[in-house]
Amino acid sequence: MPTPESTVIRNGLVVTASDELHADVLIEGGRIAALAAHHSAAAESFGADRTIDATDRYVIPGGVDGHTHMDFPFGGTFSSDDFESGTRAAAWGGTTTIVDFAVQTKGHALREGLDLWHAKADGQCAVDYGFHMILSDVNEKTLKEMDLLVEEGITSFKMFMAYPGVFYSDDGQILRAMQRTAANGGLTMMHAENGIAIDVLVEQALQRGETDPRHHGEVRKALLESEATHRAIQLARVAGSPLYVVHVSAEQAVEQLAIARGMDLPVFGETCPQYLYLSTDNLAEPDFGGAKYVCSTPLRPREHQAALWRGLRTGDLQVVSTDHCPFCFSGQKELGRGDFSKIPNGMPGVEHRMDLLHQAVLDGHLTRRRWIEIACATPARMFGLYPKKGTLAPGADADVVIYDPHAEQTLSAETHHMNVDYSAYEGKRITGRVETVLSRGETVIDRRTYTGRAGHGQYVPRGICQLLN
Ligand code: URP
Ligand code: ZN
Ligand code: ZN
Ligand code: ZN
Repeated sequence: MPTPESTVIRNGLVVTASDELHADVLIEGGRIAALAAHHSAAAESFGADRTIDATDRYVIPGGVDGHTHMDFPFGGTFSSDDFESGTRAAAWGGTTTIVDFAVQTKGHALREGLDLWHAKADGQCAVDYGFHMILSDVNEKTLKEMDLLVEEGITSFKMFMAYPGVFYSDDGQILRAMQRTAANGGLTMMHAENGIAIDVLVEQALQRGETDPRHHGEVRKALLESEATHRAIQLARVAGSPLYVVHVSAEQAVEQLAIARGMDLPVFGETCPQYLYLSTDNLAEPDFGGAKYVCSTPLRPREHQAALWRGLRTGDLQVVSTDHCPFCFSGQKELGRGDFSKIPNGMPGVEHRMDLLHQAVLDGHLTRRRWIEIACATPARMFGLYPKKGTLAPGADADVVIYDPHAEQTLSAETHHMNVDYSAYEGKRITGRVETVLSRGETVIDRRTYTGRAGHGQYVPRGICQLLN
């Protein structure tokens, strides 16, 4: 469909992180031009090439998913969504911006990894995208390159306290990289699990013949997540750098974040829908079915979920991202039959985040505005994309979702658009569904039909974190 120069969305309830407005939205040249109360003189004066009627619908900012892994190498294979299929699935789910992780390979420059990720994404994406950089080899050269990356819009760097021999950084490397971000304005992102201790427990479990997927959850102990979270916080304090802890799943890790935030430290936390809705019960599914749910940090016993929901309400957790990193059950997850440590880590989810969090509104965990805050506005601020992304205000990109809060759907691999042969939420019933999606004013989903195209999505260089003083 050609992009109309201008669009007006009438009669919807506009929901942002800060407001709920019965307002019409005027879009011109791919940006939000104005909002005005329904039937007001200003709204009546909105003239546009086309009108979208949003009666009984919400009009919300497109989702910002700050944590995806398209075409990501892990355990001898690659995640099964590439940028083409993964960003199309994101669009279906009302996410109009992703921030994916470019990977530095050991012994190589950051630049090489970044160039490779640009090549993977360029011309492929249905929605806009930015990059974080994974540091796998912190050395003098890497540290210098970090400054250059911040200048060109790669303003966040993920390190791993897990996965020795692969992505792992030791405390000295972490401290050095944090000192660098303290100076250059970058944000340190941390995979906080004590990987050295976990590897000992993995070896011992395998020696005992404990090879099933559920043992993945047992060896990656909550205490080893909270210990690493605590250590990361102290290292960041010493370096004077901000810290964003990714995929928080353990109640005890939330406690560490709450303590740090109580001390006014610039420490932030992210969780993911899988930790809010799934548990070790899934990891224990029979016939190797638990492999579908193997990710790190691992799913926890159900009792942890209350602390995650509470953290999202109190603000001790600020962001929900997906950590979308799908591997097909057939041929990929199966690499770990007989040895859970060989199951590629990661789960699909980029398509369902907005819906699962809307369900959380209905279930009383979140308010509507908090839904938009944790899924759109705060990730945009966290990663230097606001107010271009994450809100509906004059001047913002017209990334807009028309959301039907009453539609019923059942999540299933039969109907999802991610390139993966199972759903982590097979059969789950949800109320609420994305109906229409605009990306910079262009319709990419039109009343449940995909009208987007690979190559519409643009690379977005990012500013520095906007949540620091
Ligand atoms: O299991 C996960 N989370 N896979 C993706 C890589 C990571 O650690 O985020
Ligand atoms: Zn109204
Ligand atoms: Zn991680
Ligand atoms: Zn991840």
